[in-house]
Amino acid sequence: MDWVAVALKKDVPPGVVIPSRISDSELAIWCTPSGRYHAWSDRCPHRGMRLSHGFVRGDTLACIYHGWQYNEAGSCDYIPAHPKLTPPVTICVPTYRCVEDGGVIWVSLTETDSPLPMLGGRDPIRSLQISLSAPDLAAHFGAHSFTTIAVVSDHDALLAVQPCTDRTCMVHALAAPDADRKAVSRWLEDLRATLERVPA
Ligand code: FES
Repeated sequence: MDWVAVALKKDVPPGVVIPSRISDSELAIWCTPSGRYHAWSDRCPHRGMRLSHGFVRGDTLACIYHGWQYNEAGSCDYIPAHPKLTPPVTICVPTYRCVEDGGVIWVSLTETDSPLPMLGGRDPIRSLQISLSAPDLAAHFGAHSFTTIAVVSDHDALLAVQPCTDRTCMVHALAAPDADRKAVSRWLEDLRATLERVPA
């Protein structure tokens, strides 16, 4: 698994942090005020609070529990209870490669030379959780890979699939720029209803 869609850009505006995940890896996805995206392990190195519950403060992410602040490299650079202390370099959050492309935020949990998935000029429409594992979703479409699944339909939609649990996945739907966005959204809901009727 190389690049995985973890959110649509519109759902992570500058200054916002959200929770996300790729299978068992829980992630905090955040965007600096100037628009740089980051994907980090969703655990504060101090006491394990979820960093996705924290807040973006300038170009840092601050933990909501005791306020430790982490710079864009994931290193702790400020501890409010010890304002004059330079935090040890060992206090850092595991970080992952994270880029925005085509209105989708992509994360790779491992080093990869693989290119980002080709989106064919499609625009992001919406994200929807489906109660079906990513491999089962891929199998439904006869696909070998579940990172992205091109779907032949009236809307020429493409689904970028995010494995969540062994029973759920998130799909991020894209469609041609001239597609009827409401129709694509309804099609996606119908697809979910159909897929969730398929016995696992
Ligand atoms: S748990 Fe995050 S600062 Fe203490």
